[in-house]
Amino acid sequence: MKSRKEPIAVLTCYDFLFARILETEGVDMILVGDSLGQVVMGYDSTLPVTVDDMVYHTRAVRRGAPNTFTVVDLPFLSYQASSEEALHSAGRVMKETGAHAVKLEGGDEEACLTIRRLVRAGIPVMGHLGFVPQSIHMLGGTRVQGRDPEGANRLHDQARALEEAGCFSVVLELVSGAPASEVSQNLTIPTIGIGAGSGCDGQILVLPDALGLNPAFTPRFLKRFAELADLSGHGVRSYIAEVKGRKYPGPEHTFGDEG
Ligand code: KIV
Repeated sequence: MKSRKEPIAVLTCYDFLFARILETEGVDMILVGDSLGQVVMGYDSTLPVTVDDMVYHTRAVRRGAPNTFTVVDLPFLSYQASSEEALHSAGRVMKETGAHAVKLEGGDEEACLTIRRLVRAGIPVMGHLGFVPQSIHMLGGTRVQGRDPEGANRLHDQARALEEAGCFSVVLELVSGAPASEVSQNLTIPTIGIGAGSGCDGQILVLPDALGLNPAFTPRFLKRFAELADLSGHGVRSYIAEVKGRKYPGPEHTFGDEG
């Protein structure tokens, strides 16, 4: 798709029903992101998410989208301690879910060693640079990356290192438009941006944010493509009103003795 200059449309997903919608509508790739810590489990960061959580949600997604290329995040501290632990975590995810690839954050020397180890074992790896949520406390909060020349150079170097280590693609999260675009042009593997402008080879959004299920979350990069919180609130209000007003269930919802 990159060589054809066809933009790659990626969304995150965490459950069966939305996975079925994503596959039906033809999304190019699904990421079961550890963002599920926030948007599904209600934590205030991705740090508490476990490999068990990722396996549970990915199995549901795979049942809903069996024919869509699916990448799974390796959660915090499931791969940083050693390449062997990374292999164990990634192996669990691949064996127990039927996913096609894993994603991990960072582009330093250690991350590259781990990526080489996974790729050697036959596990496709997606990289993740820019704002890396598992390091939120090191980064001092949610901040756009690559704005200063030093940050932009580091981004270039790490992106190249990830490509050389064997990543098949790399997410660029919250990166200034110009460096994101330059990195995308300099790599042969596709970049998938979130808050990284239109120069990336593809885009990804967190599904509940994109569908308006999380209306209090309004970063500049986000566009809401539906207003599901409003729609759902309306549905729930109508249900409550009809139950209390004895309008639901009506005769048409009630089983008789017709057999
Ligand atoms: O966890 C996630 O959803 C992600 C995307 C924001 C890229 O890593």
